[in-house]
Amino acid sequence: MKLEAASGRAPPGLLELLRDLGDGENGFMGTPVPSGEMGLEEYLQRCVEGPDPARLRPGLAPQTVFWMIDDDGVAVGMVRMRHSLNDRLRAHGGHIGFYVRRDRRGRGHARAALRMALAELAKRGERKALLTVATDNAPSLRVVEACGGRCDGESVDPESGRRLRRYWIDLPPPAGRPE
Ligand SMILES: CC(C)(COP(=O)(O)OP(=O)(O)OC[C@H]1O[C@@H](n2cnc3c(N)ncnc32)[C@H](O)[C@@H]1OP(=O)(O)O)[C@@H](O)C(=O)NCCC(=O)NCCS
Repeated sequence: MKLEAASGRAPPGLLELLRDLGDGENGFMGTPVPSGEMGLEEYLQRCVEGPDPARLRPGLAPQTVFWMIDDDGVAVGMVRMRHSLNDRLRAHGGHIGFYVRRDRRGRGHARAALRMALAELAKRGERKALLTVATDNAPSLRVVEACGGRCDGESVDPESGRRLRRYWIDLPPPAGRPE
């Protein structure tokens, strides 16, 4: 499995992945594609602009979208990686969110993808990653804890009313940069 940053090219299986995600699950938001509100091309363009602070919509942090590409070249999951935190993300969302297609779960894709996303975040100069996980989301708790997540407390998500656990993961300094 590898991570591929979103570009104008749709990898095989992307539409199926976005349909599977639908309106979202466990706080990982869906996309406007399955409802037809936005075409795939326009959505990909929006993903491509996500990292650029100059093109951001108000209140959003710069974000890179990655597709999880399996060994057959098929998109089986996605990662949203925010480059920095704002107040909203501190309360809910954190730096990184991930989703794996229902029929491809339990194969270690999320764990591998989180490790790779953490390395990407470290390259951008962040020293700690925040992940917020619903206390009843057992698979996601397993993934975050397996990747070194340290829980520093719980809070109630202001949007959904669900209990969330806040996890921090220390990131290595980028090569060549002093501690
Ligand atoms: C969370 C999610 C990404 C995990 O994807 P995945 O590829 O199946 O994850 P992995 O295979 O890497 O690991 C899943 C872990 O959860 C465990 N698990 C799965 N179902 C479980 C359950 N019902 N209870 C306890 N543990 C469970 C697996 O055994 C595995 O742990 P292990 O490696 O220690 O055995 C996937 O379930 C998903 O997309 N959920 C919806 C979106 C979501 O919740 N995203 C996270 C919030 S941002």
